[in-house]
Amino acid sequence: MLQFFIKSYGCQMNSYDSSRISDALMEAGHKTAESMSDANVVIFNTCSIREKADEKLFSDLGRARLLKLQSQITGNDFIIVVTGCVAQSKHEDIAKRAPYVDIIVGPQEIHKIAEDISDFLKKDRVDTIVRTASNAKEKFLHLTDQFFNRDVSEFLTIQEGCDNFCTYCIVPYTRGREFSRDVSDIMSEARKLLSMNVKEIILLGQNVNSYRGIGLDGKTWNLSRLIFELANLDGLKRIRYTTSNPKDIDESIAKVHREVEILMPFLHLPVQSGSDVVLRRMNRKYSADEYLKCIDFLRNSRSDMAFSSDFIVGFPGETDDDFQETLKLVNTVKFAQAYSFKYSSRPGTAAEKMDQQIPEEIKSERLQILQEILNKQQSQFNNGYVGKSLNVLITKQGRHKNQLVGRSEYSQSVAICDSYLNIGDVARVNITESLSHSLVGMVV
Ligand code: 5AD
Ligand code: SF4
Repeated sequence: MLQFFIKSYGCQMNSYDSSRISDALMEAGHKTAESMSDANVVIFNTCSIREKADEKLFSDLGRARLLKLQSQITGNDFIIVVTGCVAQSKHEDIAKRAPYVDIIVGPQEIHKIAEDISDFLKKDRVDTIVRTASNAKEKFLHLTDQFFNRDVSEFLTIQEGCDNFCTYCIVPYTRGREFSRDVSDIMSEARKLLSMNVKEIILLGQNVNSYRGIGLDGKTWNLSRLIFELANLDGLKRIRYTTSNPKDIDESIAKVHREVEILMPFLHLPVQSGSDVVLRRMNRKYSADEYLKCIDFLRNSRSDMAFSSDFIVGFPGETDDDFQETLKLVNTVKFAQAYSFKYSSRPGTAAEKMDQQIPEEIKSERLQILQEILNKQQSQFNNGYVGKSLNVLITKQGRHKNQLVGRSEYSQSVAICDSYLNIGDVARVNITESLSHSLVGMVV
């Protein structure tokens, strides 16, 4: 029996993968460790979306190396595993810069990690294992069906990979081509989650709206059809899905939002830029006007719909005027929440080779201006609920006595004091106060 510690960087898809790796290791009889220093197996599930994320791995590996040296002195096992997107895109670099890493496997090879570790224990393997095959179908076929430790709200990956090739993005090179899981596979995973008291399922996909899986009738089902099916499951209280590309929003999505009450009226719809010139150079396949029309279309379908988004500032060639177009779009939409980033050049992408790269100071300046507006919009959105009520799914105990914490329809964190509610309940809550990143309320 070994103690393992998984450090997960990056997106929700990595969190999902980490929990499936954890299941496999627990099934093999290993236990989770509280920290890296209590562990005999350390797994880094890495992200390479921006340069900073990718560099983090190498600083963490330095620490793991010291722990490995200490273990060698005391004669204990210490296995270092690197998986995720950096393992896929930089496996040669990792093997060269950190030869003490034992296992380097891409995100679609995680189903074999438990077996790799047992090979190391039996001393069948001494050389570094490197595997970077890109076959999501194989991965889902072989992930363990034993689940351990699930929360009230859980992710369920339904689609992986990306065929869009946005010119800034490394994902098509790390997660490979688009793959959709079969509906039957997704339904049985959802049932398993519900049997573990999960109440909210967040469907994950790099391009979740381009989901095209084999349905229960053998035909191809899209995301809306899948959501209609999931909504029939007993005990499921909420469904969300992420991440959507605006180009894939269609009438079927409007319909499912109109008709499925447990589908939350909150959508993460990354726009990246408000300038048509920049959008074209990013290969996003929609204009700013089309994005605004898409927002209107969804708001007309369900009037309580709210939106979050992602933005990139300082994309190659972005002028002051382009940036002003982004601000104009932000002021038109009024987002409930948003993430914004400085453009970061990624190896192998088309934008890496574009001329007119923007100086760091300009990127920082634009990011600050944009974030100030987005933060203000988020506060306005939250403040707008003071005196109104929201449905809150209770997810955990709060820090104070009798305090519970949950999430609203719009994923806002809401703290309430009530001794009658349990984790997993949904309560109608009157909002009494809006703090910088959360709300406070009382059960109606
Ligand atoms: N530089 C900066 N931000 C990026 N994103 C993706 N690639 C890059 C990059 N090269 C952002 C996008 C995306 C989010 C997950 O990360 O906004 O929607
Ligand atoms: Fe990071 Fe993208 Fe990989 Fe997720 S898919 S871990 S965001 S690089």
